[in-house]
Amino acid sequence: MKILVTGGAGFIGSHVAEAYLQAGHTVDIIDNLSMGYVENIPAGATLHNIDITSDACTDLIMSGEYDAINHHAAHMELRVSVDKPVHDAGINILGSLRIFEAARKSKVKHLVVASTTAVLGEFVNLPADETHPVRPIAPYGVSKRAMEIYAEYERIVHGLSMTILRYTNVYGPRQNPHGESGVIAIFLEKFLKNEVPTIHGDGGQERDYIHVHDVARANLAALEHRLNGTFHICRNDAASVNDVVLALRSALGNDYSVNNGPAKAGDPAKTRGSHDLFTAQTGWRPTVDLTSGILETALWFRDRK
Ligand SMILES: NC(=O)c1ccc[n+]([C@@H]2O[C@H](COP(=O)([O-])OP(=O)(O)OC[C@H]3O[C@@H](n4cnc5c(N)ncnc54)[C@H](O)[C@@H]3O)[C@@H](O)[C@H]2O)c1
Repeated sequence: MKILVTGGAGFIGSHVAEAYLQAGHTVDIIDNLSMGYVENIPAGATLHNIDITSDACTDLIMSGEYDAINHHAAHMELRVSVDKPVHDAGINILGSLRIFEAARKSKVKHLVVASTTAVLGEFVNLPADETHPVRPIAPYGVSKRAMEIYAEYERIVHGLSMTILRYTNVYGPRQNPHGESGVIAIFLEKFLKNEVPTIHGDGGQERDYIHVHDVARANLAALEHRLNGTFHICRNDAASVNDVVLALRSALGNDYSVNNGPAKAGDPAKTRGSHDLFTAQTGWRPTVDLTSGILETALWFRDRK
């Protein structure tokens, strides 16, 4: 198949592009390099340096070349979304809508769309499955939820075949440490520069961390099964930020210091998801445990220097 991966110069999109290439597909990438890097793009993929909110994006999809689209390009800095919700919505809602519309008109056979469990807001049931209430508490979650609703509209009303994957906290090699989400990448960058990172709050907040290789495999499974619906991609396991710091210190063999600062508004206290629905439909399961995933990620950040 010929597949267009949006955001393929970014962290997750580049791993997804790699997984599709390894499975024998042809991959084109759309990325405006606002947060991504040319070095992330796997060998064999072709970059189109364009913005998903531009007519050039529509024109590329309308060329009719693509059998499938994998949509990962997004604005995803939660704090920036609070300060600049119009910027966030312009990319995540209008950019996504442009892609869905062009995909339908050009008869793309399947779409896989990256969403987030940030659409849930506070987790009231743990582990959260796909029936969990959806009450986003930051503009980023609102814009991703709006994207999901447009995707559902395209699927239900126009019959566009589409999988929506909601990730919890993804980590691994190539994660951008210069954003303001992704505690593992941010702390690794600071530790390796002998800077002292700040934990927001007491570090007891729990997250369901999933390795990017598992996420890339989920994107391959979603495409191969032409799965329709919304699915949680997670490990159904939670670790606190303090646990992550311990694992990072152990991986790097150094007792690095951390500061504690005020807790951030809009951050849920605990997140943990259930992947049972996706596993039942595809057989996919997470395979990378947090200790070995953090070790691999720490070595990648260290050796990249
Ligand atoms: N990283 C996580 O923990 C996580 C969790 C849940 C969901 N997600 C979702 O996964 C997707 C990818 O996230 P990531 O962590 O790889 O982020 P990332 O910032 O590394 O990748 C996003 C890519 O999109 C590109 N991009 C941004 N705006 C663009 C635009 N207007 N036009 C073209 N390209 C544009 C960026 O340059 C970047 O390469 C996003 O949709 C995000 O919402 C990520």
